[in-house]
Amino acid sequence: MSRSSVERARRWSIALRSGTETTELLALWVASWRATYAEIAFETRCAWLLDRLAALEAQGAQTLCLWDEAQNSLLGFVTIDPETGWLDQLCVHPEQFGAGVGPVLLAAARERSPRLVRLDVNADNDRAVRFYLREGFKSIGAGMPSKSGRATLILEWRPSGAEPSKAP
Ligand SMILES: CC(C)(COP(=O)(O)OP(=O)(O)OC[C@H]1O[C@@H](n2cnc3c(N)ncnc32)[C@H](O)[C@@H]1OP(=O)(O)O)[C@@H](O)C(=O)NCCC(=O)NCCS
Repeated sequence: MSRSSVERARRWSIALRSGTETTELLALWVASWRATYAEIAFETRCAWLLDRLAALEAQGAQTLCLWDEAQNSLLGFVTIDPETGWLDQLCVHPEQFGAGVGPVLLAAARERSPRLVRLDVNADNDRAVRFYLREGFKSIGAGMPSKSGRATLILEWRPSGAEPSKAP
């Protein structure tokens, strides 16, 4: 890690979602996905997202928010279930794409679920697929079609030396 990224990381902090950041979190989620699929009206799905986060959290998942303390702004968030390793949401503010926010959030998810992280990703979400493969994930097969009807891949990360899953 370079000195500048160490300094930057020191001003970043992770906190569990508390509810006070809901407006900022929804705005970030919409902006992040609009930057990925401009044709989809993600703002119409905010209620769906809040219901989904609440349902996942009721089952034990954690939504971790990464804050820039100097700016008091939300950089991104991740939802991870430490019991199952299921990563349901990972979103970075589009102004922060490529700045290392995704890797920091993924590291936090791996800390909570150190033996397995599994997720599905739209097969045509090239930036995300590249990101996960670079982070050591492997495709273990096709997932269910996404909410928008897109083909998905199931990706899985396990610490080195661990046996990969058989395709579902
Ligand atoms: C996928 C995602 C989590 C990656 O997070 P990140 O913090 O940008 O990750 P990185 O810092 O490693 O950068 C990822 C890529 O963005 C590129 N990038 C840099 N600046 C960029 C910019 N201004 N705009 C777009 N992409 C940029 C990086 O070069 C890198 O590209 P590469 O794969 O060709 O090398 C993030 O892009 C995101 O939130 N996307 C929208 C939501 C999403 O797809 N989530 C995952 C669903 S499963």
